[in-house]
Amino acid sequence: MRRIYFDNNATTPLLPQVLAAMQPCFIEGFGNAGSIHQVGQRARAQVEAAREQVAALVGSRTAEIVFTSGGTEGDNLALMGLVKAGDHVIASAIEHHAVLASCQRLQEMCVEVTIVGCDANGVVQLEAVREALRPNTKLVSVMMANNETGVLQPAAEIAAIAHNANALFHTDAVQAAAKVPISVEEIGCDLLTLAAHKMNGPQGVGALYVRRGTLLQSRQLGGRHERGRRAGTENLAGIVGFGRAAELAIEWFDNGGVKQMSALRDRLEQGICRTVPGASVNGGLAARTPNTTNISFPGVEGEGFVIAMDLLGVAVSTGAACSSGATEPSHVLVAMGLTEQARGSIRFSLGKQNTAEEVDFVLEMVPGVVHKLRELSPAWAGK
Ligand SMILES: Cc1ncc(COP(=O)(O)O)c(C=O)c1O
Repeated sequence: MRRIYFDNNATTPLLPQVLAAMQPCFIEGFGNAGSIHQVGQRARAQVEAAREQVAALVGSRTAEIVFTSGGTEGDNLALMGLVKAGDHVIASAIEHHAVLASCQRLQEMCVEVTIVGCDANGVVQLEAVREALRPNTKLVSVMMANNETGVLQPAAEIAAIAHNANALFHTDAVQAAAKVPISVEEIGCDLLTLAAHKMNGPQGVGALYVRRGTLLQSRQLGGRHERGRRAGTENLAGIVGFGRAAELAIEWFDNGGVKQMSALRDRLEQGICRTVPGASVNGGLAARTPNTTNISFPGVEGEGFVIAMDLLGVAVSTGAACSSGATEPSHVLVAMGLTEQARGSIRFSLGKQNTAEEVDFVLEMVPGVVHKLRELSPAWAGK
C-alpha cells in the first residue's frame, strides 16, 4: 500500500543529504568534541561548523547558538534557566506543553505566571501582553508559529513590548524554522528555540539561540560544555545533521520553497473545503506557515478520522503529537473559542517531500471518509 505522510509538524523524514553528512560521525569520525587530541579536535571542528550553519539560518552570531536535545529542552532551558522566585513570566495559552509545563513548574517555585489568550484566529493580541506586564516581569514567551494551526504570531511586536518594560523575550520557533525565514535581529528576541527533527534533520537535537549578554543558568549540571550553558557531551552526529539540514533549508528558501509549499497546502485546503460540506479552516484568516492546515469537520470524531485515513495509508493528526490519543480537546483550539469544533479537527502538515499527486490522492479519500464517519455519528444523524 502506498504511504502518504502529512504529519510533518510531528516530525519530518531525514533528507538523504543529512544522512550522508551524519554517517561518518558514527564510525571513523566518532570523537568527543571536548577531547584535545586530533580525534576530538576533528569532532570539535564539525560541531563548530554546524553551529555556523544553524546561526546562518536565524541570522545570529555563532556563539549565540547552544545545542540541546530538541525543542522541549530548549523551551525548558529558556524559561527555567532565566527566571527566579519572585519574578513574573507571561506566556500565551497556545504555547506548546514544553512552555506551558515549564510555566507550571515555575509557579511551584514561587514565580508569578500570567497566561494570555488569543483571538478567534489563533493570534496572540498585543494589548493582552501589554496589560499583563508588571514591574517584576522578567520574561515574555510567545511562540513564532503554532504547531496545531500554523498561525504566525506577532513575535517582533511582542518583543518590542517586552523590551519597553525591561523584560526579555523568548520565542519557540520550532514550527517556524525552515518554513518561514527567521532573523533574530528583526524579531529582536533574546532567546529562540529550534528543533532539528521538524526541519528534515535528526530527532533528539535542537538549539537555543541566546542573545549575547543574556545570563542563563545551565539546567544540566556537569562539565562546561556549550560555554557553560548546557552540560553534556555534544551529540556529534545529531549536531552535524542539524547543521546540514539548516544549510539545506536556506537553499530551499532561495529556490522558492515557501511559494511552492503554500500552493500545495492551498490546493489541499481548498479542495477539502470545496468537497466536504461544513468543513472549515481553523485560523484560516491569519497568516500561517506554508505547510499547515487545521480543518474542522463537524459530526466527525478526530481520532476516528485519523484511524480511517491511516487504514488508507495516509498519516494525519488530531493536533500536537504528544496529545494525540488523549481525550482532552486541543488547548489551542479551545483558546480560539473552538471548543465544539475541537473534537473533529484534523491537522494536515505537509513536508518538502510531498507532491501535488499525493495531495490529489488525499483529496479523493477525504470526502468518503468524512461521509462514512458522519453516518456512524448519532449526533450528526439528525442533521
Ligand atoms: C512548537 C513546539 N515546541 C516544542 C516542541 C517540542 O520539540 P521536541 O519534540 O524536539 O522536544 C514541539 C514539538 O512538537 C513543537 O511543535
